[in-house]
Amino acid sequence: MTDNTAELEITDASLQHARQTSAKIEAAIDKDPSQFRVLTGARPTGNLHIGHYFGALSNWVSIQQRGVETWLLIADYQVITDRDDTGPMRERVYSLLTDYLAIGMDPEETTIFTHSQVPELNELLLPFLSLVSDAELRRNPTVKAELEATGDRPMSGLLLTYPVHQAADILFCKANLVPVGKDQLPHLEQTRVIADRFEKRYGSGGEDRIFPRPQGLLSEAENVLGLDGTKMSKSKGNTIELGMSADETAKLVKKAVTDSDRNITYDPGNRPEVSNLLLLAALASGRAPHEIASEIGDGGGGTLKAVVTEAVNEHLAPVRTRRAELAADPGYLESILQRGNERAREQARQTLAEVHAALGMVY
Ligand code: TRP
Repeated sequence: MTDNTAELEITDASLQHARQTSAKIEAAIDKDPSQFRVLTGARPTGNLHIGHYFGALSNWVSIQQRGVETWLLIADYQVITDRDDTGPMRERVYSLLTDYLAIGMDPEETTIFTHSQVPELNELLLPFLSLVSDAELRRNPTVKAELEATGDRPMSGLLLTYPVHQAADILFCKANLVPVGKDQLPHLEQTRVIADRFEKRYGSGGEDRIFPRPQGLLSEAENVLGLDGTKMSKSKGNTIELGMSADETAKLVKKAVTDSDRNITYDPGNRPEVSNLLLLAALASGRAPHEIASEIGDGGGGTLKAVVTEAVNEHLAPVRTRRAELAADPGYLESILQRGNERAREQARQTLAEVHAALGMVY
């Protein structure tokens, strides 16, 4: 098997290339959104917080609103790649769905679905697995990172092959655009490699490819840190969840870490905690962090926290109201997920039929 996965490593050059490509794609979306189909996904492992929201989700909503057909996967099978306990799966899936709808994902425009209810998507894993070697999967940077994050847990076969499953997620609906953070770029490369190998080995060799070569769309959003200035993580209690109340938000922000200089300035290099709070206020209010800093001036950490609390609560108020309304209507949520799953299944059946035909498995 040829091995062209050396390019899976994220180098500065490849990152720069991905950024340039993303800028071109953004322009192409504005010109003609109908040439794109987006798939994106998330694992239902916990509630969504402002890091997800400002880092990725608001971008998904904007892409949808610009008229691109969007598929949104709740990746339930990916939850069991690296843990023994599935957790309260049903609650988490519905909580994620509720968050998506509350931030403005529109079920008329966007197909929201789960792995587990779309068997034909999962079946694509089998032919795709025939196209990769175990060595290249072991070298995949995201597999390595995930493995490290699980401590001493031995690597499961599902963790090792999850980039292939993720290729199935993207290719089953023939998505050609995947909004990603830079850590996920290797998945996209792996997906293109699988799509190309499929065509080469099983395809007709003509112009009629079954699978597109999907591109990554890098989010330009800045990375918001947790309230203590370190990486956001639920277990550290340094995040604000979308579904929290305004009071809970105020309490959390009050505990945020600042520094002893009362003069508030935006200086991410030297004052990471203060600058991160300013960035958060800026993202929530659509203003520049410098501007907010100079307004606060000598007001100190207390004023800064009051400004952050107000900006975040004001921005999230309509999302939270909508979230509460949706949560009160489980029948509606079930109907949305059922409809999404049916749509996804119809698409997956069609794609799998093409794959079976390419493999000569038609009886
Ligand atoms: N790996 C992604 C995450 O944990 C979730 C995911 C699954 C995904 N399948 C995908 C993302 C396909 C993009 C495309 O957040």
